[in-house]
Amino acid sequence: MLKLVAQQLRQQMRQVSRVSTINYTKATSGTDLSRQQQQSTQSPTIEVNKALEGWPEKLRKAGVGDIDFNLKCLVAHVLGRKFNTVKGYNDLVFTENQLEEFERFCEARCARMPLQYIIGEWDFMDLTLKTSPSVFIPRPETEEFVSKVIEVYRDVKGPINMLEVGCGSGAMSLAILHALPNVRSTAIERGKAATELSRENAKLLGLDDRFTVYHHTMEVDNYLPPELGNEVYDLIIGNPPYVKSEEFPLLQPEVVCYENLNALDGGPDGLRVARLVFNLACEHLRPGGKMWLELGEDHPPLVQTIMDTQYEGRLRFIAGYKDQYKRNRFVEIEKEPAKTA
Ligand SMILES: C[S@@+](CC[C@H](N)C(=O)[O-])C[C@H]1O[C@@H](n2cnc3c(N)ncnc32)[C@H](O)[C@@H]1O
Repeated sequence: MLKLVAQQLRQQMRQVSRVSTINYTKATSGTDLSRQQQQSTQSPTIEVNKALEGWPEKLRKAGVGDIDFNLKCLVAHVLGRKFNTVKGYNDLVFTENQLEEFERFCEARCARMPLQYIIGEWDFMDLTLKTSPSVFIPRPETEEFVSKVIEVYRDVKGPINMLEVGCGSGAMSLAILHALPNVRSTAIERGKAATELSRENAKLLGLDDRFTVYHHTMEVDNYLPPELGNEVYDLIIGNPPYVKSEEFPLLQPEVVCYENLNALDGGPDGLRVARLVFNLACEHLRPGGKMWLELGEDHPPLVQTIMDTQYEGRLRFIAGYKDQYKRNRFVEIEKEPAKTA
């Protein structure tokens, strides 16, 4: 069936190529136009509206949500344009190669591959980050979390030595470094692909002079790599894996089939990795320093109880904060200041 549709589209392409090239020329300007013109003279073109035919239905059948948004992202990506510059499809055309690419991407989306992996980059706050399969895709709630941290530290004048546990693509650290020039971030990350991707993102964004990432798996009594054994941080941040084992069957296919389970699996109560971060903070957070974590929605009260009962005199629960959906998601914890004699 897919082959048949593609065949029909190619046939239509040959018929409409001349017309649609002229239409496009009238409707666009600048770099996009010259790129498109170049491609149009090299190969036949097809109207994007025609290329789209059938895909909304296929995507709907595959269970993909917000189909208009998905298709617009894919069209914009294939045409090499920014999402918000595509207002409608009327004057847009694909070359034959672009059509093939578009169809491949739509098929991948029907197989529920996340858009972020198909496109290979995604915006996070003010930054565009490269994405890569098996590396955790930064989420919109994390933008809220990072904004909160930035807001709290914006007025701090001196240098801030920050540690991020599990940096994935680097989203959290890099957004903070971008906003706050007095912060220096050290990150640890258990995934090799994520370690390399975060390093690459830091370089692409010109933030690599203040970002260092270590490929290291935090474990009991082996919290940081040996080089950092004596380091003490002013601020520790993290978005540790917090999905409870029982919640896995509820996750979307995009997550279960394509994302790295090490980035998600928080064990029976979702706090398996967070507990390691608590222990790490006891050793590597300076007295009076803060730890900010993004967690699951029923975690903040549980974390407060854990602090009160198991970390008394070492870590103190300061507050839990809600995300835009009114879910209690973010926790602020303080390392108890050193006692004076
Ligand atoms: C939920 S993802 C968050 C990634 C990134 N901070 C973000 O918000 O986009 C958790 C990350 O922690 C890493 N991770 C999980 N367990 C870890 C461990 N024990 N030591 C170091 N990193 C770990 C995972 O590989 C993953 O990249």
